[in-house]
Amino acid sequence: MESWEGRTVRKIYAVPLGLLGAGAATFGYASVIERNWFRLRRFDVPVLPPGRPSVKILHISDAHLTPGRSRLIRWVRSLDALEPDLVVNTGDSISHRDAIGPFLEALGPLLDRPGVFVYGSNDLYSPVFKNPLRYIWRTSKSDYKRSPREPDLPYRELGSSLQAAGWLDLDNRIGRLKVGELDVEFGGIDDSHINRDRYDKVAGPVDPQADVHLGVMHSPEPRNLDRFAADGYDLLLAGHTHGGQVCVPFYGALATNCGIDRPRVKGLHRHQGSWLHVSGGLGTSPMAPMRFCCPPEATLLTLVPR
Ligand SMILES: [Fe+2]
Repeated sequence: MESWEGRTVRKIYAVPLGLLGAGAATFGYASVIERNWFRLRRFDVPVLPPGRPSVKILHISDAHLTPGRSRLIRWVRSLDALEPDLVVNTGDSISHRDAIGPFLEALGPLLDRPGVFVYGSNDLYSPVFKNPLRYIWRTSKSDYKRSPREPDLPYRELGSSLQAAGWLDLDNRIGRLKVGELDVEFGGIDDSHINRDRYDKVAGPVDPQADVHLGVMHSPEPRNLDRFAADGYDLLLAGHTHGGQVCVPFYGALATNCGIDRPRVKGLHRHQGSWLHVSGGLGTSPMAPMRFCCPPEATLLTLVPR
């Protein structure tokens, strides 16, 4: 028969060991299962003039690709079956200097479709370890301010490869593409998270001759959203937030890592007179390889008449 001391020792260790086991199981689920549990979200967005034909936009973001992420590569590649009329990539595509080839492999046949892109900070800078809990009380923007580094990832080669396929670089630029039967005007900015956004370069009212006007950026910073909306852009597309990445059941994201409010950390919402779609993103920083209650995603946005 077990002694009183033995039972007491077992009780003392039972709770911490149980918590440790639950923590390890949660980490395993978040880093192995949910991180590779890709979802496609779909929204209709009523932004077209009456009578115009609808078009499908595939919005991808925050792949943070590193070599060897074969599930992510295969899943993104399979999205071509959706037959989107346009692909919008809102940045943080790579997180490794050897990831351009794998990223182009992931896009595969999507590169033959009309496309536009902007950079995110992680296209320029190699990932460094940060305590993920810090995002709860401050954004990572101050990390870039405090230790300014020269970009060490081949983001220009990434951009050249996408441009070679005919995609438009919208970093602080205006652009125009025929998408399906529509004449689409774009305005885009570089990443505000590292102070590379220059809205003044694209500022001004949209061209009323275009059928629809899309604003493209990495981080959904409200001061830029305000300006896009004031200039008449119909739909604003952004990423960066990872949807909170590690969320609390029945509560949601703990942080957005930028100025956008928590309820708009991902999904389709309004911003003044515009629509705003924030992608929850496809990946994670390799330094924080887990997602919880926030599966990786891409979005098919169908633009329909108002
Ligand atoms: Fe990201």
